[in-house]
Amino acid sequence: MDLKTNAAKKALEYVKSGMVLGLGSGSTAKIFVDLLSEKLKSGELTDIICVATSKATEEHAVSLGIMMSDLNKREKLDLVVDGADEVDPDLQLIKGLGRALLREKLVEIHAEEFIVIVDESKMVDKLGTKGPLPVEILPFAHEAHLRFMNSIEGCRAEHWLEENGEAAMTDNGNYLAKLWFNEGIEDPYLLADVLSIRPGIIEHGLFLDLATRIVVAAEEGTRVIEK
Ligand code: A5P
Repeated sequence: MDLKTNAAKKALEYVKSGMVLGLGSGSTAKIFVDLLSEKLKSGELTDIICVATSKATEEHAVSLGIMMSDLNKREKLDLVVDGADEVDPDLQLIKGLGRALLREKLVEIHAEEFIVIVDESKMVDKLGTKGPLPVEILPFAHEAHLRFMNSIEGCRAEHWLEENGEAAMTDNGNYLAKLWFNEGIEDPYLLADVLSIRPGIIEHGLFLDLATRIVVAAEEGTRVIEK
């Protein structure tokens, strides 16, 4: 069995009948949704209502017959299960390379518990050392937002483009940027503040103090790291 499946399987142990459950986005979260649907179909889990973190997840869950709601109707979630792009030793995350960071963060701040499912390759000593930090930006004056982010020390910001050269878009109709850090992100809290304060930057992929458990699947076995 592949590592992502192992992580998703382990997270399923935390799901109980009757929960309001947030469904993440990306390939690992998709496996979790598939496994959840099997348990619902077999009757092993019942009475679960889900809230999706992206249009793709919503469509996938609906296609599997999972009962869906949204944050307007279900503001308090018992649990969210989602993947991540990087996880550091303090359980801080980079998320959003699947482009769903804004809706993911919105759903995850409403959850009592947030379990992150990853394979070992996502574990880093320092955030920003494995890949870029995704940032959702307003299309209006996007070059100005990119210039602002390029002025941050140690940061190189690029407009996220599709292979055909068109701007990558989010579910919310916004553009995206990728922020690269040669030395990694020195102070994630400071960077989060700098990005949050600028109009036109809609949301960034630093998920700080949100994860409550990390399920890490490795060749030697699956382990759970708790806050
Ligand atoms: C989606 O926007 C992301 O935050 C994903 O959770 C993240 O990119 C991990 O995706 P994979 O499970 O596909 O690696």
